[in-house]
Amino acid sequence: MIVGPCDVGKSTVCRILLNYAVRMSRRPIFVDLDVGQGQISIPGTIGALMIERPAAIDEGFSQEAPLVYHFGHKNPSSNSTLFSMLVQQLANTVKERLEANKRTRSSGVIINTCGWIKGAGYKQLINSAKSFEVDVIMVLDQERLYNELVRDMPNFVKVIFLPKSGGVVERSKSVRSEARDQRIREYFYGSLKNSLYPHSFDIKFSELKIYKIGAPALPDSCLPLGMKADDHLTKLVLLTPNAGILHHVLAVSFSEKDDDDIILSHVAGFVCVTNIDTERQTLTLLSPQPKPLPNNILILSELQFMDSH
Ligand SMILES: Nc1ncnc2c1ncn2[C@@H]1O[C@H](COP(=O)(O)OP(=O)(O)O)[C@@H](O)[C@H]1O
Ligand SMILES: [Mg+2]
Repeated sequence: MIVGPCDVGKSTVCRILLNYAVRMSRRPIFVDLDVGQGQISIPGTIGALMIERPAAIDEGFSQEAPLVYHFGHKNPSSNSTLFSMLVQQLANTVKERLEANKRTRSSGVIINTCGWIKGAGYKQLINSAKSFEVDVIMVLDQERLYNELVRDMPNFVKVIFLPKSGGVVERSKSVRSEARDQRIREYFYGSLKNSLYPHSFDIKFSELKIYKIGAPALPDSCLPLGMKADDHLTKLVLLTPNAGILHHVLAVSFSEKDDDDIILSHVAGFVCVTNIDTERQTLTLLSPQPKPLPNNILILSELQFMDSH
């Protein structure tokens, strides 16, 4: 697991390690827990990818059927209860794959994390390390974080300090937000070298079920007996399509059941709401695939994308 503050080269170190591994004929799994950038899918997700070939300098790894879970926020702090649940779910699925495939098992897993390392962010890192049962943690740049991890991790976990490489470029908030936007644009339209042609179609409100994860908090005194104060964070709320979801990204769930399974299901992909017609009761969706959608269960993301094509 690679940890450290923002802009110290974590993602780059992951890429270098994975490339080395593939060149040594290994088949490692890349796990990305950084919901802010979303290297495997789009921002707002976590996921895992089997690495089959090295990544070119200017493009990502080949992305055949990555395993993707929808979180829906660009910062894990927006709903850390949900984030922990999804990390555990992803870890369980990755462990199953390791058990099923000897070559992958001997190659191991490289885990990228986000730059949120203080307070609850630090607890989250410890949590993620436990979920994946990591045995090596590389700490980039920050000695304090290194010392904390040496103190708090069990003895069998090797904690290694790596100084930040001189080449690392610091990015401003706006540059990071542009990178997020660019990532979503690429999801639909591809890159200069590899253009994609997304589809746009109308679909009736009645043909879809759009959920949001997380209900507004109730004051403790109003909670029904036996309900915990943070249960509302993982509650599914059915939405009536309204102007508020315009330009929002929606995850297309793989869930076969229309119940709480939706929260921990991985997703087939993403669409974006480009128009809402409340009179005709239809939504216009930007989608990588033509109609029909692989499932009628969609989950709202906080992330928005302005389709300017
Ligand atoms: N060794 C390096 N030499 C040159 N550029 C680098 C190096 N490491 C990272 N970078 C660049 O610095 C920026 C931040 O690196 P990144 O790996 O995304 O950091 P983090 O994941 O910690 O936020 C990126 O634009 C990346 O291409
Ligand atoms: Mg990164």
